[in-house]
Amino acid sequence: MPENLRAFVAALPKVELHVHLVGSASMRTVTRLARRHPDAGVPADPAVLRRFYTFRDFDHFLTVYWAVQALLRSAADIHELVVGLARDLAAQNCRYAEVTVTPYNHLLDGLPGDDLLAGLASGRAAAAAEHGVELAWCFDIPGEKGPVAGRETLVFALRNRPEGLVSLGLGGPEVGVGRAQFAPFFTAAREAGLHSVPHAGETSGPATVWSAVHDLGAERIGHGTSSAADPRLLAHLAEHRIALEVCPTSNVRTRQVESLAAHPIRRLLDHGVPVTLNTDDPPMFGATLNGEYLAVAETLGLRRAEVAQLARNAVHASFAEDTRKQALLAQLGGVA
Ligand code: HPA
Ligand code: ZN
Repeated sequence: MPENLRAFVAALPKVELHVHLVGSASMRTVTRLARRHPDAGVPADPAVLRRFYTFRDFDHFLTVYWAVQALLRSAADIHELVVGLARDLAAQNCRYAEVTVTPYNHLLDGLPGDDLLAGLASGRAAAAAEHGVELAWCFDIPGEKGPVAGRETLVFALRNRPEGLVSLGLGGPEVGVGRAQFAPFFTAAREAGLHSVPHAGETSGPATVWSAVHDLGAERIGHGTSSAADPRLLAHLAEHRIALEVCPTSNVRTRQVESLAAHPIRRLLDHGVPVTLNTDDPPMFGATLNGEYLAVAETLGLRRAEVAQLARNAVHASFAEDTRKQALLAQLGGVA
């Protein structure tokens, strides 16, 4: 890999639009929490944890993810995760990120809602003060838990409306979890001024993406990779500027695609779809934001201007304030 491309990517101001708070926990944080809660079944030894993070398929990934999620028991745990994520983002030259949090699952795991909110608020303040990173929140519905989780997530979001909350999401498995059943919650969220950002087309076909667009009013799509199989859908996403939060390493590690070379990202770009690059669950996948940009640039043989365009796409697709967007675009203009 040419050193100058690596330096170019590192110098690019980047925006992260698809990262899960639980999945952002550093190896050090997870091993420390695992030692404190040996009942949770998460390895406390770094080498064993790395093997624990080898996923057979998407469902296996979710099982591991939920085990790590159950380690979070206090406001201090959440605070530590948020600040750790901000530190890692700053190291990737990323000063704005939208972070997915799943309140319903934390509540089920016994973390009181007030503690979750306190940890998010104090962590967010520290992220800005200590690392110069602005964090926004996406509260997402764990789809496998059905409409009750939709209702509870919406109520939790609107009742508390924490600073930085910008969107409602929908995660978990897609197979057997139709998007349309969550339509009322997305409608209410949009009426209350939250944006719609469901996962779709990560582990199921383009029909799920269509449903996210039509039934949930999706403004961006988490992953959306299977859209590549449907030319009409590609045209729709391009025409309506519905950005895809593509997470290439995640897709390889959960075995949704065989390799980066087999990833449909080239096809998405060729059809004019606004593509953004993201990490999803970075330490679980051994991913970094710079690593995603580098890998895609190398695999696709992108020119520097095309790499910079990916970073611009993320700024445009973000829900940051206009002043923040303009500042980020100006910084990008200074590099590329
Ligand atoms: N998809 C669905 N649910 C998730 C993911 C994902 O990529 N990461 C964490 N929860
Ligand atoms: Zn995700």
